[in-house]
Amino acid sequence: MPILDPYAIEFFSRSPSQTKRIGIRLGGLLQRGDLICLSGDLGSGKTTLVQGIAQGWGSGDAVTSPTFVLVNMYRKVNGPSLYHLDAYRLQSAAEAIDLDLDAMLENGVLVVEWPENIQKALPRPRLWVKLSWIDLEQRHFVFKPEGKRFEKMMKELRKHIYGG
Ligand SMILES: Nc1ncnc2c1ncn2[C@@H]1O[C@H](COP(=O)(O)OP(=O)(O)OP(=O)(O)O)[C@@H](O)[C@H]1O
Ligand SMILES: [Mg+2]
Repeated sequence: MPILDPYAIEFFSRSPSQTKRIGIRLGGLLQRGDLICLSGDLGSGKTTLVQGIAQGWGSGDAVTSPTFVLVNMYRKVNGPSLYHLDAYRLQSAAEAIDLDLDAMLENGVLVVEWPENIQKALPRPRLWVKLSWIDLEQRHFVFKPEGKRFEKMMKELRKHIYGG
């Protein structure tokens, strides 16, 4: 697959723990106001990636799939919170209005699973991550920055992944 965006990162994960590790790297780079969209089929590894992100972010709270409660919040000591929204059951951007995403972004970081379901309600800049299932243990990720803030973040993430 050709990558047209020079800041985009393509990554193959060979295990759930490798997915968590890249999540930890990403989580360590996040700041209040950042929006991360995780787009991919059932079982492609979105929640597994969030487990790493929350750990790298500095929260010791357990990450679970918020399919029924819609939003989970993971705290960290002396810092903003990480909000984890699963939009699987939402059918339109209008349904996201009640959730007050702006307030979450003012207070912390927002990570969204199934972002395409509420795409029009999701502001930019943002990091769009496309996850695909390759086989039982392999997943393919494309990290696509939308906005300067995330282009810089991808430069940092690239250093962590490839060194140098
Ligand atoms: N390389 C890998 N990366 C991530 N998960 C993997 C990998 N290999 C196997 N898995 C398994 O795939 C499953 C991924 O589930 P996960 O809940 O993270 O997916 P999801 O994208 O959040 O799904 P859903 O759309 O149902 O929320 C887990 O059971 C995990 O152990
Ligand atoms: Mg999930």
